[in-house]
Amino acid sequence: MRNINLESYLKSELKDNNEENDELASVIKSIADATKLIAMDTRVTGLKQIRGSLDKTNVQGEQVQILDQISNDKLVDILAKNSSCAGYASEELKDPKIFNSSARFMVVADPLDGSSNISVNMPIGTIFGIIRNTDYGKSSFIKSGRYYISAGYSLYGPSDIFVICANNKVAEFTLDPQKNDYFLSRSEIKVPNKGSIYSVNEGNFSIWDNKIKKWLLNTKNPSGTSAKNKKLRYVGSLVADAHRTLINGGIFVYPSDKNNQNGKLRLMYEANPFALIFTSAGGSAVDLEKEILDIEPENFHQRTPLIIGSKSDVNNFLEHMTTGKKKVKENTEITPIFKWTSNSITNLRKSLNLSRTNFGKKVGVSRATVLRWEKDIVLPNYINKKALDNAFLSVKNDLIDNPMED
Ligand code: AHG
Ligand code: MN
Ligand code: MN
Repeated sequence: MRNINLESYLKSELKDNNEENDELASVIKSIADATKLIAMDTRVTGLKQIRGSLDKTNVQGEQVQILDQISNDKLVDILAKNSSCAGYASEELKDPKIFNSSARFMVVADPLDGSSNISVNMPIGTIFGIIRNTDYGKSSFIKSGRYYISAGYSLYGPSDIFVICANNKVAEFTLDPQKNDYFLSRSEIKVPNKGSIYSVNEGNFSIWDNKIKKWLLNTKNPSGTSAKNKKLRYVGSLVADAHRTLINGGIFVYPSDKNNQNGKLRLMYEANPFALIFTSAGGSAVDLEKEILDIEPENFHQRTPLIIGSKSDVNNFLEHMTTGKKKVKENTEITPIFKWTSNSITNLRKSLNLSRTNFGKKVGVSRATVLRWEKDIVLPNYINKKALDNAFLSVKNDLIDNPMED
């Protein structure tokens, strides 16, 4: 399957030549053609004076970048001419555009993702989803991710690539500028089951819920013998951070916070497309508790927390979200940050260079209790674990003050 172009790939992938497949292939091709035109602009934003913003705010209340508008216009122009496209809705449009309400598919898009990175030449992209037209009108757009028949994105980076999920398979195409066509560069992409990279905007740490803080601290300071440190990578363009996570594995987290109670990323044209892609590639996509694809939208521009990545990394994140609830009968406002075992307690006492008596005084228990902990005869309770957390954090001078203390 090497080096076939997008059109031949779609013909071979969507092979049973029924009408729906032919029309789906044609809508995907139209979107790909629009991204080729956008790519021609992203390469020369500094020459065409298209780095700045318009004197206009979109429905999100965000200032519209020139390239946001240009990208949106290119998608509208091309899709309006495609008889299989019934309508188009995007981050840049307050309401959907209906072209031909009886046509088979609707397209949702974030025409230019990562706008804050345009002026500094960092990777940016276009994200899209394709939904069957079931209601023949605007309500067709308010559907859960389960209704998406295809999704994909382009990433305008060192290479201009186009990633498509069709038939539950995820493939990557690279734009050959000479031929101005996309050629297959990765087929049947699978997310590694575990990764060594975490991707999150740590600048929001102070406005996160404690469970998110706990996840981050445990990610930065993994406990347990086999634990290895992870690397932090954060571009600030969802398409770039998501694509790296799709290929290398690991986890991308954009949680809710005090400023964005429902998260920052938009469900319909950022979260759902990546949820379909990651799920089809054997990865996971959740909000703080359930699969993104199961979220029933109320309005088109609604936001959601978005956690995508390797199955085991996402499950580890979810465990941090449910710990408090599972132990709802215990003293839940004291959620320990770290797991404490006989081994780690002994290591902590030795790193503090304290006798069992003095260590007991530091964490508020008797010498005998310390001995029972270290002999694995009894486990510390919640209050003890909190005291052990504090004792541990006091030695970690590379860590900030204990964030659990309000
Ligand atoms: P957009 O440019 O379409 O508005 O999307 C920007 C999003 C997304 O690309 C990225 O993951 C996120 O904003 C970064 O947000 P922070 O700058 O708050 O980290
Ligand atoms: Mn975006
Ligand atoms: Mn955008």
